[in-house]
Amino acid sequence: MQRSDGSSGLVHLRPDSPVRRKGFLMGVATAAFQIEGASDADGRLPSIWDTFCRTPGKVLNGDTGDVACRHYEKWAEDVDLIADLGVDAYRLSIAWPRVMQRDGSRNEKGLDFYKRLLDRLRERGVQTYVTLYHWDLPQHLEDRGGWLNRETSYRFADYADLVSRELAGRVTAWATLNEPWCSAYLGYGNGHHAPGRTDRRYATQALHHLLLGHGLALPALQANDPQAPRGIVANVGAAAPARPTPEDHDAAHLYEVQHNAWILDALLRQRYPDDLFRLWPRTEPLVLPGDMEVIGRPIDYLGINYYYRSHVRSDGANGFVEVRVDGLERTQMDWEVHPDSLRRLLTGFRQAYPNLPPIYITENGCACDDRVEDGRVHDPERLSYIDRHLAAVDEAIREGVDVRGYFIWSLLDNFEWAFGYSRRFGIVHVDYQTQARTLKDSALAIRDFLASRQP
Ligand code: NOJ
Repeated sequence: MQRSDGSSGLVHLRPDSPVRRKGFLMGVATAAFQIEGASDADGRLPSIWDTFCRTPGKVLNGDTGDVACRHYEKWAEDVDLIADLGVDAYRLSIAWPRVMQRDGSRNEKGLDFYKRLLDRLRERGVQTYVTLYHWDLPQHLEDRGGWLNRETSYRFADYADLVSRELAGRVTAWATLNEPWCSAYLGYGNGHHAPGRTDRRYATQALHHLLLGHGLALPALQANDPQAPRGIVANVGAAAPARPTPEDHDAAHLYEVQHNAWILDALLRQRYPDDLFRLWPRTEPLVLPGDMEVIGRPIDYLGINYYYRSHVRSDGANGFVEVRVDGLERTQMDWEVHPDSLRRLLTGFRQAYPNLPPIYITENGCACDDRVEDGRVHDPERLSYIDRHLAAVDEAIREGVDVRGYFIWSLLDNFEWAFGYSRRFGIVHVDYQTQARTLKDSALAIRDFLASRQP
């Protein structure tokens, strides 16, 4: 799809954009539970997602992670896919239940899997952005209270210590947690995700322990693998008022406090925002002296995951409620496509946080109802989505935000949590019957774009 103007199908991204140059890191992303399968191979322990998948009514069609994309067996083929796309980097996660035994000792076979994988990626010239926790908490820790138990923060730091000792020198950059908002709010607040608990007080306490675990892990990562930058990945949300009233404007503000400031204020200001407790009165977590300093330890980069904008209206005591506005462009997830919100959020963070570290967009992408037809998958909506979001990143950079890279979610169609395998986010199609991988048109265009980049 190389065009005469050299745009390679990215028609919204300006021709002179730094995002088109080789120095801007381009990657693809996945997560362990969503692709690996082999859920009881080589001594892997059950995780909260294995349990959740087996709880009737929690995951669409009763789907599980038992097989997923069989990446645990097909990893070498998948590395070839990644390298042949020409991306600079691959973002993956380590499965805690694969590499650490109940007593805290190492599971050698599990670690060997990641060593082989990381080594092959390096041989193929692909940088590795490794996330330690992408939601697969060992079930035995959940049985002791999970993220509601402060002990779990310390167990996470032990796990980070073990993994970074074992994998030191093989990883380009570490991330402690992926989207702690989801772990805390969806996992403990509204119960849409594992472990499926439902109390706002649990959500704020779980979030505190997640972030405490993040802060406790940082010195171990630094000591064991000083060369590799350390960060954390936060999902961010944008909201627009449903009606032009002061009440709905406040509702949109509260939505963004709940989605963004809750996490970013803790990390970058060492406090939780007062407005969070205006929204959710009497949900203050138990914070011990010194905790916020641990949470606020400096990081080398901040990963931002962005997908969509919501519309909200004021809802009395609940603060806000999301409303579905008709006539907007939407993806298979029913999420609105709104690239300018990414620009607005990034520039807003730069203003709000003078100590904002360099940013990587660690996830962005969309689900489409993709089908293979004559060996091809036509997904023009996905390429357009990526193109327009890259253009929004370019604008944010022009407005002074230090964004250094962008990862497409996802390399492969995979297990989309409570939606099971019904939502396809990959630039590579997976046939779950045969496990055949087929590059979608978006992947072909991105491959051409990457090959056309200049230094
Ligand atoms: C965020 C999560 O990190 C990832 O696991 C998920 O599949 C995508 N967003 C899409 O919902």
